[in-house]
Amino acid sequence: MKTETGQTIRLDDYRPTDYAIETVRLDLKLDPKRTQVTSTLSLAARDGTRGGTPLTLDGDALTFVFAELDGKPLSPDDYVATPDAFTLKRPPEGLFELTIGTETNPEGNSALMGLFRSSGTYCTQCEPEGFRRITYFLDRPDVLSVYTTRLEGPKDQVPVLLSNGNPIEEGELADGHHYAVWHDPYPKPSYLFAAVAGNLAHISDTFVTASGRTVDLRIYVEPGKEDRCHWAMDSLKRSMRWDEVRFGREYDLDIFMIVAVSDFNMGAMENKGLNVFNDKYILADPTTATDTDYAGIESVIAHEYFHNWTGDRITCRDWFQLCLKEGLTVFRDQEFTSDERSRPVKRISDVRTLKAHQFPEDAGPLAHPVRPQSYREINNFYTATVYEKGAEIVRMLATRLGEDGFRAGMDLYFERHDGEAATIEDFLACFAEATDTDLDTMLLWYNQAGTPTVTATSSWDAGSSTFTLKLTQNTPSTPGQSEKAPMPIPIRFGLVGPNGDDMEVERIEGAEAAADVLLLSEHEQTVVFHGIGARPVPSLLRGFSAPVRLEADTDTADLLFLLAHDSDPFNRWNAAQTLAMDHLKRSTEAIRRGDTLAADPEFIKALETVATDTGLEPAYRALALQLPAESDVFREIATDVDPAAVSKARTTLKGEIGSALAGTMRDLYDTLQDDGPYHPDPESTGRRALSACALDYLVAGGTDGAEELAKTHFDTARNMTDRLAALSTLAMNRLPSAEPALEDYAKMFEGDALAMDKWLSMQAMIPQPDTLDRVRELMDHPAFSIANPNRVRALIGAFATGNATGFHRADGAGYHFIANIVIELDPKNPQVAARLLAAFRSWRSLEEGRRTLARQELERVAERADLSRDSSDIVSRMLG
Ligand code: PHE
Ligand code: ZN
Repeated sequence: MKTETGQTIRLDDYRPTDYAIETVRLDLKLDPKRTQVTSTLSLAARDGTRGGTPLTLDGDALTFVFAELDGKPLSPDDYVATPDAFTLKRPPEGLFELTIGTETNPEGNSALMGLFRSSGTYCTQCEPEGFRRITYFLDRPDVLSVYTTRLEGPKDQVPVLLSNGNPIEEGELADGHHYAVWHDPYPKPSYLFAAVAGNLAHISDTFVTASGRTVDLRIYVEPGKEDRCHWAMDSLKRSMRWDEVRFGREYDLDIFMIVAVSDFNMGAMENKGLNVFNDKYILADPTTATDTDYAGIESVIAHEYFHNWTGDRITCRDWFQLCLKEGLTVFRDQEFTSDERSRPVKRISDVRTLKAHQFPEDAGPLAHPVRPQSYREINNFYTATVYEKGAEIVRMLATRLGEDGFRAGMDLYFERHDGEAATIEDFLACFAEATDTDLDTMLLWYNQAGTPTVTATSSWDAGSSTFTLKLTQNTPSTPGQSEKAPMPIPIRFGLVGPNGDDMEVERIEGAEAAADVLLLSEHEQTVVFHGIGARPVPSLLRGFSAPVRLEADTDTADLLFLLAHDSDPFNRWNAAQTLAMDHLKRSTEAIRRGDTLAADPEFIKALETVATDTGLEPAYRALALQLPAESDVFREIATDVDPAAVSKARTTLKGEIGSALAGTMRDLYDTLQDDGPYHPDPESTGRRALSACALDYLVAGGTDGAEELAKTHFDTARNMTDRLAALSTLAMNRLPSAEPALEDYAKMFEGDALAMDKWLSMQAMIPQPDTLDRVRELMDHPAFSIANPNRVRALIGAFATGNATGFHRADGAGYHFIANIVIELDPKNPQVAARLLAAFRSWRSLEEGRRTLARQELERVAERADLSRDSSDIVSRMLG
């Protein structure tokens, strides 16, 4: 294998910079190929820095033009300028001003980091290390500076000029040029810098803060798309209000702007006062966006807005602390959605996401702690572990401390660290102090990778009226960490009595317990519940109170009982999932033996009861009917996985349920249709989800007339949610009407990139081996472009991560194809290439034949001589 490039950065090596940058004056003269950047930094040595210590600024592929010190040209003897660094050899004492001119080519920037162009709009992306591609800087999050930015360009091409903070000056210049100056009074790290310039339209609104200040709100988009921004604006205003009510956080500038761009590596970016969004998370109207899109927009808008306090006002000391802003902000956006919509539905969806993305990451070669100890490429650490597991840790704190305790800790955090770059230790200390709780062992959750397994075995003793629970915890070894200490695991519980109600517990022995939460803190603990006069069914880990795998000795009868009675909606749903999973695992084994396994009629009946229980909200019922995904079964089987057998087991079970419940599903479908105007509210969203689910079961069950029903649903749909649901049912079940419907769809939405992304994805996910040929053909379709990350994710990403049958083709053609795309994409956009490569992350769990083929492809990628640091880091960890 090729030797690894790039040095390893370690948390233990952290030390502050020798110099502070107090203010930054940036001047950008915009030009497609030769944008001139002049940056003037006012610098001073920090206390304790020896006089004359050289100052080295970071750069990345920069073209140096000139340098001045305190307004006078520097002699070439005084500095060294390379594309990757600028060193001032002998800085003066006291405060000094360094001015550096560089030049950059936005149009040639295909990596979309630094200053690039998206459909003609100039746009920056600086997190985590993109600022150094614009100018030389101490490009790290603990250097906080006040920025003043001047943008200049031809008015006809860039009528709109935006940057962080408040606008302070604008004017006309000769030759049709104009300029604008922005000032951001809040000191910030370079990764939060942003500038946008182009021919953009906008919608505007205002928000009056709790203390009565009026804030100007604007969303900028390509002209003609303004009508699709209203949901985003509505979501923004609700987010602003929520943060005031729930966390006492007010917005702090006179203006808050969002810009939507069509070329973006990630979802969105929280630059101070000027969020930049992937247009997928802004644009929505009923004909082109689904309920899922509307919900996604609402939560990403909220997430980025919430970063204003958790990320911008209080930032991270170094990138190891990334979860400080991301985990916390994900927790905050999850809470927002729970308050705005349905708490149980949100919790179930989040846990599904966690298990689908974070659990496999934590169980494979890319496993890393929520706060890693070292990295080679920080871009590869924007992961499900940092974000989603990071949010789970914050949730565990909230569970342990209760609403008031948690809020007191947050208040102290905001008060104490406002304007600072903080650490996880700082964060935890606020909760410990505010609530007088010892939280030292919580750090283990940040430092230890791997998903703990908790086992629970129980017994009831009639004589002493006691119920005994034996709990153990065990965290598997992960790369670089073989030994694990026991962690504090909050287990929310209930003991469900024979009548289905939770039983009263007199006293608990053997574990710290507060109300309905036990704290498991040792490797092994025996917990005794007193005053239990009948055998209960334990309902453990209610609300998924900790990110662990629970192995309890609950049998089928217990699970059916919980599914019927548990007062905790999460565990009711989870009982159905566990029953389905047990069946799918056994059925997969049977299929590999050439056998079959019929579904348990009791289970199907229990599903029917939930599906038709009108006391439950439709969105919840839809979730209960949804079987575990193929990837979930994969993860549970864990070794020697045969993806084809898993796929067959799941299709078979779905068909059995569909045909057994055909009548019920048909009634359900009929009662759920509604011809009122479209609105993405939780109630009607849930109704559409349940209707789609019923339709899908009808089709999967091969019910007479189901295909026609789905075709009619597609043809007569008056919104994208219904249209796409019907199309998906036709396509995934490979029905003859799928092809003409796909053609109709393409005609309807030709030229609408986001709608066509759905069309690409859907075809990429059709579970059959020759889908690969289709994906290859679609790469030549005008709707596809390898240069645009959304298109790559829609077609190639969906195939690699959303089509187990296609990607894991027994002949390895799926692996070969993805490896080729990675090799092609890597020189252009390493971040997108590296993410695609991560689709292989569970390759070691595959059965031997596929495992060998996958390894060969990974080795082929690893041997490429000029692989980016992003991809080489991923591939070497994956093979390591
Ligand atoms: N900080 C962004 C968010 O989570 C994500 C992001 C990271 C965007 C890196 C761009 C680049 O809100
Ligand atoms: Zn974020």
